[in-house]
Amino acid sequence: MLRPEPESIEVATTPTELATLEGRNISAWFGDHQVLDRVSLTMEAGVVTSLIGPSGCGKSTFLRILNRMHELVPSASLAGEVLLDGEDIYDPSRKLVDARKHIGMVFQKPNPFPAQSIYDNVVAGLKLTGTRISRDERDELVESCLTKAGLWKEVKDRLRAPGAGLSGGQQQRLCIARSLAVSPRVLLMDEPCSALDPTSTRVIEETMLELAHEVTIVIVTHNMQQAQRVSQQCAFFLASQGTPGAIVEHGDTEAMFADPIDPRTFDYVNGRFG
Ligand SMILES: Nc1ncnc2c1ncn2[C@@H]1O[C@H](COP(=O)(O)OP(=O)(O)OP(=O)(O)O)[C@@H](O)[C@H]1O
Ligand SMILES: [Mg+2]
Repeated sequence: MLRPEPESIEVATTPTELATLEGRNISAWFGDHQVLDRVSLTMEAGVVTSLIGPSGCGKSTFLRILNRMHELVPSASLAGEVLLDGEDIYDPSRKLVDARKHIGMVFQKPNPFPAQSIYDNVVAGLKLTGTRISRDERDELVESCLTKAGLWKEVKDRLRAPGAGLSGGQQQRLCIARSLAVSPRVLLMDEPCSALDPTSTRVIEETMLELAHEVTIVIVTHNMQQAQRVSQQCAFFLASQGTPGAIVEHGDTEAMFADPIDPRTFDYVNGRFG
């Protein structure tokens, strides 16, 4: 008779439904320096939304507010609401860890746990979210997340090797796999390819397009071609002359690049500033 693993209690890998994430009137401060002013944006379910705009206009701050990382900065404060399928993630009855579980983040610099194996990196989030699964389920989860992240074939024979032994592009895909392991409903990506070569960038872009069927994706990018390749919706942020960042224009990516409404969007997407 098969005996369950001692720690086998609940299964983490129930398929999740696509979710819409909505920021409503988001303002943000570091101390008394306001960096975002009443930004509202709906990031639709099953769609890739790109956030573009010059350096310092508040894109990363906005992204960090979307999964409750902004509040980790001691001087930081914010106003507004973030709704995941209509429910405010900042509601006092909601746990911080739930927001992080449902809304994952991939950073500019790949940050795998270097001493941990590739395998352990993928499942690292399960401990943090208190999710327990059997060894078989864990093996399956590792394979499916690495497959979704486009890394399985390259690492399947060295799952016990340390994460630090991978190339930068592979490490970034490992981080994507790690994010996926807790079944997030939204994946936030802050310039995920800016440290990568063109081939790794292409692999990650392909991965994003495939993932968009199961997780809502928001990506910050300075690469205008990338925004057009991967996103269906786009928002242009700007902080002009010392004012806090705000959205100048948002909508269908193709239209924003081909026929923007605001002259500042036209100038930015055509590389005239920023
Ligand atoms: N930890 C912090 N403490 C104080 N000010 C900060 C902090 N992080 C960001 N800021 C300020 O907030 C503003 C917005 O920064 P943010 O990093 O969100 O911009 P960004 O659009 O992501 O820029 P980039 O394209 O360069 O990444 C900037 O004026 C920045 O100096
Ligand atoms: Mg940034």
